[in-house]
Amino acid sequence: MNHLLCWPEPVVRVQSLSDNGIRTVPDRYIKPVNDRPALLKPGSKIDEHVDIPVVDLRNLFGKDRALHDETLRCISSACRDWGFFQAVNHGVSHELMKHTRDAWREFFGLPLEVKQQYANSPSTYEGYGSRLGVEKGAKLDWSDYFFLNYLPVTLRNQSKWPAQPTPCRELVAEYGAEVTKLCERLLRAMSISLGLREDHLQNALGGDNVGACLRVNFYPKCPQPELTLGLSSHSDPGCITVLLPDHDVAGLQVCNNGKWITVKPVPNAFIINVGDQIQVLSNAIYKSVEHRVIVNSEKDRVSLAFFYNPKGDIPIQPAEELVHEDRPALYNPMTFDEYRLYIRMNGPCGKKQIESLKSNV
Ligand code: OGA
Ligand code: NI
Repeated sequence: MNHLLCWPEPVVRVQSLSDNGIRTVPDRYIKPVNDRPALLKPGSKIDEHVDIPVVDLRNLFGKDRALHDETLRCISSACRDWGFFQAVNHGVSHELMKHTRDAWREFFGLPLEVKQQYANSPSTYEGYGSRLGVEKGAKLDWSDYFFLNYLPVTLRNQSKWPAQPTPCRELVAEYGAEVTKLCERLLRAMSISLGLREDHLQNALGGDNVGACLRVNFYPKCPQPELTLGLSSHSDPGCITVLLPDHDVAGLQVCNNGKWITVKPVPNAFIINVGDQIQVLSNAIYKSVEHRVIVNSEKDRVSLAFFYNPKGDIPIQPAEELVHEDRPALYNPMTFDEYRLYIRMNGPCGKKQIESLKSNV
């Protein structure tokens, strides 16, 4: 039997462990010592001075040339130096963001039997899941999720989206449309700031045939958060990720100069990050950056990660304009379908995969 068709072990919902009041973290969620988070001691504060940049998108493609250029410069330096930024005035309705997140919180609050109707398998990952990767005996993350395809429309299967709570399907459709528009604008901005034609990146990803999917992450409360991670260190395989974090629980950490920085979410902002495919297309001028999620013993956390991806079957390679004699193409071409298979088999693994694409120059 194809090993991608089923999980190697019985699936355990992390939320049910947490809801049953488990007092210790089972061994399969305990990370090796070096991967465990250094949690804050009670009473100490996170370093308020170090955080990912905040970029105001109000003037992106507005009439004022100078403000427009300044916005591009901010995006560009955030993509070079951090691979991450928080976007405010991004054009997506704050109300829609809140309603969509609330609907998903409600979904995860439904009885287990209801959620189980959407149980996923590693063949497509669509639906309600509790692990990434199919390696038997692998250490697991302290989270459950719901994964769905949004684009291309031919892969959109609304009957696999939650029927409850009632507005969920409609909200996801509307939310996806708004966030897709934001991704298109960001791609234009990134193209220009890389010195490429405005439509370069969009075209390189397949024009109107790009892919997009949504993963809603649910991080249950954890009795021993110092031993585990909600999501292990990884870079996102696609192009751009638009993350709607929980409105009042932090958890995302971004690696910067070897240190883990805990992102403090700005109200109504999106957290935007560069994925591996932008690193390839930009010939590593923009970098995808490792990030992970920590959990806590006080509160559950919900986040919505919208992944904007290339069309699955076209080779992705560095833009010709960014390849020179003194900066040869750093990566060999690969399709996204091939690329994504790796993470689907092996689970989150830092930046191991993009490293493996390196050409021998
Ligand atoms: C992801 C991710 C971060 C978060 O889903 O790829 O990095 O805060 N999520 O949930
Ligand atoms: Ni991620």
